[in-house]
Amino acid sequence: MKLYIETLGCAMNMRDSEHMIGELKKQGYASTDDAKEADLILINTCSVREKPERKLFSEIGQFARIKKPDAKIGICGCTASHMGEEIIKKAPSVNFVLGARNISKISEIIHKDKAVEIAIDYDDSTYVFDIARSTGIKALLNISIGCDKKCAYCIVPHTRGKEISIPLDLILSEAKKLANSGVKELMLLGQNVNNYGVRFSTPHPRINFAGLLREISQIDGIERIRFTSPHPLHMDDEFLEEFASNPKVCKSIHMPLQSGSTKILKSMRRGYSKEWYLNRALKLKSLIPNVGIGTDIIVGFPGESEEDFKHTIDVLEQVEFDTLYSFIYSPRPHTESYGWGEEGKVSQEIASNRLATLQSRHKEILRHKAKEEIGSFHKVLIENVKTGEQCFSEGRSDNGKLIKIPGEILKIGDILDIQISQNDGGSLIGRFVK
Ligand code: SAH
Ligand code: SF4
Ligand code: F3S
Repeated sequence: MKLYIETLGCAMNMRDSEHMIGELKKQGYASTDDAKEADLILINTCSVREKPERKLFSEIGQFARIKKPDAKIGICGCTASHMGEEIIKKAPSVNFVLGARNISKISEIIHKDKAVEIAIDYDDSTYVFDIARSTGIKALLNISIGCDKKCAYCIVPHTRGKEISIPLDLILSEAKKLANSGVKELMLLGQNVNNYGVRFSTPHPRINFAGLLREISQIDGIERIRFTSPHPLHMDDEFLEEFASNPKVCKSIHMPLQSGSTKILKSMRRGYSKEWYLNRALKLKSLIPNVGIGTDIIVGFPGESEEDFKHTIDVLEQVEFDTLYSFIYSPRPHTESYGWGEEGKVSQEIASNRLATLQSRHKEILRHKAKEEIGSFHKVLIENVKTGEQCFSEGRSDNGKLIKIPGEILKIGDILDIQISQNDGGSLIGRFVK
């Protein structure tokens, strides 16, 4: 039997898809890239912004038209969590709906027509999923599920439920299995990774995120540890110092800013101010001069004035982010700001202009930083090699930069010293220094 799976949204969804593929393999399913030949079609959905969610129903219609007559369609993930039965009502070709908090039930639900499993208090934090990974040298690993924050704009707590940490021994045994299968770099996943250890569903010794990093870095074979997303509020000194001093922890970090204005941060309920954020980011830069810092920014949140937006640009300029994901605010159901009505609403035109200003200012910063990189050395994990006339090798530096090494066939999985020779505007170009 064949399984076709489409994965939208964040790394958490990618990992959930891997989990479902693993469980379904036990039931005799093999993956296919062609929905027309599949016996089971899964869409693992995202609902963080409105646009991709709107496209869901036209996509279901397309699959319903091309699928084999007996093939089933299942809608999983975050949109499944918050729309539930409504999905089947709107799209009767859907056979079942499985929420983001319930994916360990995939093997049962495929046999139950019109079933809806979206219980938000369901806890699979101790469930050991069957392994199915397109194992290479990098792997995703969950360390917590859900989110306890109540950011005013965000639907995720409603789709993924309360935050529960995965027990340490489970994480370590999974990480060891991965190391034994050749994985060198782990990406630890959670909505607030650095809040690890605050709640477990079974009795558990006290541990925090810095402690978890120390434990994982003891595992032989795991050479690099990354994580996403940490929350700026929980970036205490212990965390920053562990991050800076642990040699296996890669020196790139995602620090979601959302807004640079303390007033807007307050109405977003982020729990930190502009000053706290800058203090943490600048401390990181002083501990690790070439640290890579990425961020998420929302423009056009209700009440955002030109003055507030200037604070966001100010933080952008002071931190000089290496990566920026920027979005126009999208009102989402089940969130606090959804009900705020017209007062303080930022027009689409102003929001689009702010987004363009933010992105072009960021591009200038990147151009400037890339020039400074020329001549510098990076430890690069070789991840991808292309043979042939235009051969090259490619990988990421410790601080998260994608570096291309033209004319060289290097060994995938090796960590090598690469010197930056030029900057072609996008990725950095380097050469292997033997
Ligand atoms: N846990 C992560 C975020 C997960 S959602 C954190 O706290 O940063 C990923 C990103 O989507 C967020 O960082 C935010 O920038 C964006 N986002 C979430 N809700 C949004 C909304 N309603 N409109 C626009 N962007 C949104
Ligand atoms: Fe959403 Fe905030 Fe939780 Fe991140 S921390 S998932 S933005 S509620
Ligand atoms: Fe991720 Fe989208 Fe859900 S960003 S947590 S898949 S709403």
